[in-house]
Amino acid sequence: MTHLQIAIDGPSGSGKSTLAKSVSRILGILYLDTGAMYRACGLKAILSGIAPKDEVKVSEMLKTLDIDIRFADGDQRVFLDGRDVSSEIRKPEVSVAASDISSLPEVRTKMVAMQRQIAESRSVVLDGRDIGSHVLPDAPYKFFLTADPEERAKRRLEELALRGIHTQSYEEVLADIRYRDHQDSTRSFAPLVKMPDAVVIDTTKNTQEQTLQELLQCLPRELFSSAGENREK
Ligand code: DC
Repeated sequence: MTHLQIAIDGPSGSGKSTLAKSVSRILGILYLDTGAMYRACGLKAILSGIAPKDEVKVSEMLKTLDIDIRFADGDQRVFLDGRDVSSEIRKPEVSVAASDISSLPEVRTKMVAMQRQIAESRSVVLDGRDIGSHVLPDAPYKFFLTADPEERAKRRLEELALRGIHTQSYEEVLADIRYRDHQDSTRSFAPLVKMPDAVVIDTTKNTQEQTLQELLQCLPRELFSSAGENREK
């Protein structure tokens, strides 16, 4: 059986991870959150006292960077230097550091190699910024999610509150989103870009269920009937 690859790209807060998680459960395939990997890199820089845009120091840091992605019951856990940092990487300061560090080609090359290795070994849905354009350009199913920045900031604030993080106001979250949007889509190496063969879904006014249905409509029926075969053992 050839492996199934579904690519979901879009800016922060467009609803990629919720959607990708639902799709992975329905089809019985793995969900890989690639943003978490850049977040782990950003966290390592913060913990090491390195500016995430300092190419020389980050290059040195990469030599000993130990990121491990583990999956348990369909849930992804991220380990940095042997420690589970899955919650820590969601902090607002790590979001900005992740965006900063992800603009460095050396960082991207390392993360993309890990992502491709995982995607080649099994059926997956990946979400990120460059999945359809760079990581898996031959993926047969590509989606590009969009939503107004104000709506995305509202969602991010709610998500942070659910995690017990109340350190930022709506205005600060919106400013971070605009900063990351600009940086993620204007960097020279593998920027966020909509591919011509990607299906665009504007999630601004959608419920999560509506977005899920829009995506599922684009997949052939036989993928659902083979969901059991795809399921991770
Ligand atoms: O999806 P996220 O918000 O967790 O991603 C954090 C940062 O990582 C984002 O601002 C840009 C970067 N990123 C990237 O450059 N490429 C990806 N495939 C995923 C994330």
